[in-house]
This record gives sequence, structure tokens and C-alpha cells, in this order.
Amino acid sequence: MSLIALSETQQEIQRLARDYAQRELVPLAAERDRESRFDRSMVTQMAELGFFGMLIPEAYDGLGLDAQSYLLALEEIAVADASAAVLLSVHNSLPTQMILNFGTEAQRAQYLPGMARGDWLGAFALSEPEAGSDAASLRTQAVRDGDHWVLHGTKAWVSHGSEAGVLLCMARTDLPDARRGSKGISTFILTPDLPGFHLTKKENKLGLRASPTLQIVLDTCRVPADRLVGEEGKGLGYALGSLDHGRLGIAAQAIGIARAALEASVRYATERKQFGTPIADFQAIQFKLADMATRITAARTLVHAAAAAKERGEKVTRYCSMAKLFATETAMWVTTQAVQVFGGYGYVTDYPVERHLRDAKVTEIYEGTSEIQRIVIARETLAAAAALDGSLPD
Ligand code: CAA
Repeated sequence: MSLIALSETQQEIQRLARDYAQRELVPLAAERDRESRFDRSMVTQMAELGFFGMLIPEAYDGLGLDAQSYLLALEEIAVADASAAVLLSVHNSLPTQMILNFGTEAQRAQYLPGMARGDWLGAFALSEPEAGSDAASLRTQAVRDGDHWVLHGTKAWVSHGSEAGVLLCMARTDLPDARRGSKGISTFILTPDLPGFHLTKKENKLGLRASPTLQIVLDTCRVPADRLVGEEGKGLGYALGSLDHGRLGIAAQAIGIARAALEASVRYATERKQFGTPIADFQAIQFKLADMATRITAARTLVHAAAAAKERGEKVTRYCSMAKLFATETAMWVTTQAVQVFGGYGYVTDYPVERHLRDAKVTEIYEGTSEIQRIVIARETLAAAAALDGSLPD
């Protein structure tokens, strides 16, 4: 049963993802987290189901699904293993969409089929050690040299950077003495075989421990000129525009994490007895479960409404940020409540809720912190109000 009206195809995708995730991902999720282990067999399995081509058109060997089907699948994967979900979210929302929307036909034909099959995982390299929320301040430099661009710089926080076959990298193509701010950034397709491409630091993280996060150093990295995506100087807009969609993916991931915590809490509350009765009989616990369920449903409704508006071709930046903000703060709140329902057992690794809490935290940080989402929402709200004489569209 769902509050959102789902087509038969959407229900079918949801069922497929749920069956797979519960059967294959759940049994090993805790072990992968404990060992900080990226599991290639997971990639093979999800590739067989077509999950790396969910948003890639059939013409490029993808499934060509609508955004809502994709988000439903992502939520199911996140319920089972949040590390697997971030892999799917980044790959499907960012690099593949950037090549599809801004690449040349030759680039689409060259990269998308392999990415749809899961032969090449896609990664996204925007952030740098000194450029996180302030993406426009990135410093990686790209200088034209004949039929190549030569890149120098360090990219940070690259999800599954060590596993990626195709990385969409933002670098400055304006020169240091003629800086053009956000208009001086371009997008390049990198592959790990390029000379000067070095994987360096692997981060040791609080959560999402089965998803490797890398720092990448580009040291005189020579990139063929035909790897420039779209127009020179438009790369930041491509990246931020793609992040609208990426943020819906992270929102779906957050909902999945929250749902896993709620489902575990319900099971535990009906089994655990104190004062001679299951703790689910106590109103203190019931109220927690009620608030957890309500917030999750509200978050999912917002995410799917934003996705449906996107499918209709509407400008959804504001709604994507609202969905990401609300869903990720919901995940953090719900997982904290779950640990409280479990009491001491929630604080140890015998049960999964401590992992859910650790996994939830990063959703409030990556693909734009909660503070950045509030900035985007406030900007767009003020602009909409100014355009409409103070009233707002909804
Ligand atoms: N859609 C399309 N274009 C957009 C856009 C959007 N949603 N948002 C901005 N742009 C365009 C603007 O129109 C502008 O283009 P022009 O220069 O041609 O006018 C350009 O992008 C720059 O936009 P702003 O002037 O608004 O830029 P700003 O410097 O004021 O920054 C910001 C705005 C909201 C703070 C933005 O920098 C931002 O979102 N920061 C957070 C970055 C982020 O989310 N990083 C996550 C990295 S990925 C990750 O987390 C790792 C991972 O692998 C999961």
C-alpha cells in the first residue's frame, strides 16, 4: 500500500528491487560495513538487473525508466544497504545524466552503453579540499595544449572514485590572471587510464563504509580535447543543474535508511519485553513509531511530487532542495529515535540501527549540506515572491 499512485510498471520495478535487495544485499550489509569492503559482486548483480542504466534511454542500452521508478528502486536498495544506494544514485543521477544532457552524440555513443551495462561505473568530481559548499571556488586548472587539455589539481570526496571507469570532472579553463568565477569552469570526461591520474587518499568514514570515497590527484593529466563536455565555461551550471536530480536520489536513499530503522524498531518493539509486556504496548514507544512513520511518508511524498514535476519538464530546483533537506533530516531524526527505541542494544553492533544512524549522517552533508539546501530554497523563494508581487506559487 502506498500513498503515492504508482503505475504497474513502477510497482514492478519496486518489487524487483525489494526482492533483490532483501535477498542479496541484506545478509552481507553489516559485514561489508564492518570491513569497509566494496563488493564487486554487488555490481555484477545490479548490472544484470539493469540498475546502472535505469535513466539511460534504451537507444544506449539503458532501461529508460521514469524518475519515480528509479527513486522507488533506490529506496529499496537503501533499505538494505545504503552504500549500494549511493553507488547507484551517483552513477545514475550525475555522470550518466551529464553525458546524456550535455555531451556530444559521439560521447553518448562511446560512454553510455558501457555505463548502462555497469562495465564502467560513473563518478562525479566537483569538490576539492578547499572547495566544498563554495563549488565555484574550485582550483583544478585545465590548460589547452594542442589537441589535449592538461589538468592539474586535487579532487576530493569522490564517491567510489577507485572503482569508476568514467569520471565527470569540473576544472577551471579560465587562466589565473583572467578569472571568470562560475563562468570559468568546464566539464571533462576522465578515465583512470589517463597519464597523470592518481588515486590517493581513501577516506576512513563514520558511515557508508562499504562505499570507497577517494581523493584524486591530477598531475599533468593529459585529456584528449574531445573529452570536453558541452561548452567551455558552462561546467558549473551543468554540475549544479545535474545536482538537482542527484539530490532527489540522495533523498530517496535517506528515506530508505529511515525506513530500515523504522522497520527494525517495529520488529524490536513487538519482541522486546519490559515490565512484563512488549515495549510496543507503551505509548512512549508508540508515539515515536507514529512520528517516524509520519515523517517518512511526508518525505517520500515530497520526493515523488518533485520527481513528477521534473518529469513534466518544470523547473524543480527549489523542490529538489526541499526534498533533499526534509528527507535527509528525517533520516537523521528517525535513526536517532530508532537507537532510543532499542536502548542499549541500539548502541552496539548486534542490531543494525547504529549503522543506519551512521549512514544517515552523510546524507545531510553530501550533494549539498542542509545549510546549502536552505540557501537554495530561500533564494528561489525570494525570487519567486519578487516575480509574483510577494505571493508564492504554492
Ligand atoms: N540548475 C542549472 N544551473 C544552475 C543551477 C541549477 N540548479 N544552480 C546554479 N546554476 C548555474 C547558475 O545559473 C550560474 O550560471 P551562470 O554563471 O551561467 O550564470 C552558475 O550555475 C553558478 O550558480 P550560482 O551563481 O548560483 O553559484 P554560487 O557560487 O552562488 O553557488 C551554491 C551556489 C548553491 C552555493 C552552489 O555552489 C552549491 O550548490 N554548492 C554545493 C555544492 C555541492 O552540492 N557539492 C556536492 C558535490 S558532489 C558530492 O557530494 C560527492 C558525491 O560523490 C556524492
